[in-house]
Amino acid sequence: MTPSHGPADPTRPDAPAHACDERSVDARCVDAPLLELRKITKTFGDVVADRDVDLTVAAGEVHALLGENGAGKTTLMRVLAGLAHADVGQIIWHGEVVHIASPADAIRLGIGMMHQHDMLVSSLTVEENFELARPEPPLALGLTETGSRVTELTEHYGVNVRPDQRVDTLTVGQRQWLNLLRILDGREIQLLILDEPTASLTQAEREDVFRTLRDLRASGVAVILIVHKLSEVFEVCDRATVMRAGRVVARRLVTETTKEELAGLMVGHTIDTRLAGPPEAPGEVILAVSGLCTAGAEQNLADVSLEVRRGELVGIAGVDGNGQRELGECLAGVRRPSAGTVTVRGRDVTGRPPAELTRMGVARIPEDRHEHGLALGLRIWENIHLGRNASRHLIHRGVVDTARARRLAADLVARFNVRTQDLERPVGELSGGNQQKVILARELGDAADLVVAVNPTRGLDIAATQFVYEQLMAVRTRGGGVLLVSFDLDELLALCDRVFVMSGGRIVGEVAADGADRTLIGMMMGGEHQHVAGDAVL
Ligand SMILES: Nc1ncnc2c1ncn2[C@@H]1O[C@H](COP(=O)(O)OP(=O)(O)OP(=O)(O)O)[C@@H](O)[C@H]1O
Ligand SMILES: [Mg+2]
Repeated sequence: MTPSHGPADPTRPDAPAHACDERSVDARCVDAPLLELRKITKTFGDVVADRDVDLTVAAGEVHALLGENGAGKTTLMRVLAGLAHADVGQIIWHGEVVHIASPADAIRLGIGMMHQHDMLVSSLTVEENFELARPEPPLALGLTETGSRVTELTEHYGVNVRPDQRVDTLTVGQRQWLNLLRILDGREIQLLILDEPTASLTQAEREDVFRTLRDLRASGVAVILIVHKLSEVFEVCDRATVMRAGRVVARRLVTETTKEELAGLMVGHTIDTRLAGPPEAPGEVILAVSGLCTAGAEQNLADVSLEVRRGELVGIAGVDGNGQRELGECLAGVRRPSAGTVTVRGRDVTGRPPAELTRMGVARIPEDRHEHGLALGLRIWENIHLGRNASRHLIHRGVVDTARARRLAADLVARFNVRTQDLERPVGELSGGNQQKVILARELGDAADLVVAVNPTRGLDIAATQFVYEQLMAVRTRGGGVLLVSFDLDELLALCDRVFVMSGGRIVGEVAADGADRTLIGMMMGGEHQHVAGDAVL
C-alpha cells in the first residue's frame, strides 16, 4: 500500500498555508488506511483525556500528533498500544475492527510504542533489558544469543553501545536508541509510535533518529510521532493531526501548512516568540565553580571553573555525556567533587547536601524529573512543597499547616499553568509536560535568585516553553543569576549572555552568545555539526 502523497519537502519549511478542507486531507491521502481510530473516548474519573477522537494513518507515512501538554496525545497512543482501554470507540486495523486488550495484543498486530518516559531498568545491562522486552518468557533465548543480537542491531544502526554496559552509564541519547532498538528487535513492526523521542537529544542524535524513521517509512512502516518542536514536523512528517483539550481540532498535510499555523491551532491563539531583552549590567559573582574535579563518574570533570554574575544567564553547551550531568549533580548537592570548590554568594557550599542548597535559595531543575525531581506517588500539592516546608513557613510547632500548603500550591499551580483540576491526585497522573511544570512551580515560584537548570523545557509545549524562558529571563532581570545546561544550541544562543562549551569533562571554550559562531561551537563540542534550526521556541 502506498500513500498518494510524497514525503514532506524539507527545503520548503515555510510553504504558504492555504485553506484546506480537512476531511479531504484524509480522503486525498489515505485510500486504504492501515489504522483508523473512530470516536475514541477515554476518561479518568472526571478527567476526559480524549473525546471522540478520529485518526487515520497510512502505511509508509510519518504522522505527527501535536497538541499542548495534557491534550491527550499519550493517552490516545496508550490505548493503541494496549496499555489503556478506551471507554468508547473502535480501532480498525487493515479494515477490520480489532480489540487491543494488552501490549501483547498490540505487539502481535505489529504495533510498537516508545514511551515518553523510558522503561529501562537502570541497574541492569543493555542485553538484560533487551531480554525483558521480549514477548517470550525471560531468558528463553539466553543472554549470549541476546548479546549477539544486540551487537547486530547496534552495528546495523550505528549505535555505540555494548551489550554488557549497565544502562545507568548510558547517555540520554543512547538510552533512547536502546528503547527504539528494543521495539525493532526481531518483530514485524507495521506501526511505530514514538512519544517525544527527541525531547532531550542533541541535533546530531535527532538527525540520526530521523534518518532511521525515513528508512522505516521507505520500507512501508507507518510512524506516529509526538513532538513539541514544530521544526521537526517539517523535517520528517507527511501529515499532522492537532489535538486540543482531548479533541482533534485540525488535520493538515505538512506541505500545506506552516509552523505558525500549527502553533496557532495547538494553543488556540498565536504566540509571541520574541525572547531576551537587552543584557543587564552584570553584578557581583553569585555562583563560582573553581577547579572542580570528580572521581568515579561516567565522565569525570577535570578542572572545571566558571562564574555566574548577578544579572547573567550563562549557558553550558555540549554533546550529552561530556560532563554536564556530573556538573549539574555537583551543583545540586548530589555528587561530591574530588577536588575544587563551589561557592554561592561567597559561601563555600562544596559537597553540601541538597537541603542546604534549597535553604540557601538555590533553585534546581534536574535533568531527570522522575529520578531527582518528583515523588510520583505523592500528591501534586505535596510535590510543590517538597523540601520547602521550612522556607515557606508551613511548619508550626512541628506540624505542617496543610491548609496553607494547599492554598499556596493552588496559587503556584495557577501561575505556572499546570493543567489539573485536583491537587490531591498523585503527580504521576499528570501528563509529562505538566509534571515538568510542577517542578518549575516549586523551584521558580519563590523568586529564586540563583537557578541551575538542566534541560528545563524538556517535554514542554510551545506556550510552556515560552513561559519558562520568560521566568529565566525574569531571574536575570531582577538581578539573579542562571546557569542553563541545555543540549539545544538554539535555546542557549537565544537566551544566554555567555555560553561555555564542555567536552570530555572540561570547559573547552567560552563564547558570547551574541553573534556566536555555530560552526566554531560545533567544533569545540567535538566535531559535531550543528545547524541553524529556526527560532528557539518553534
Ligand atoms: N493514569 C491517569 N490517571 C488520571 N489522569 C490521567 C492519567 N493519565 C493521563 N491523565 C490525564 O489525561 C489528560 C491527558 O494526558 P496525556 O498524558 O494524554 O497528555 P499529553 O497530550 O500526552 O501531554 P504532554 O505533552 O504533557 O505529554 C491529562 O489531563 C492527564 O492528567
Ligand atoms: Mg504525553
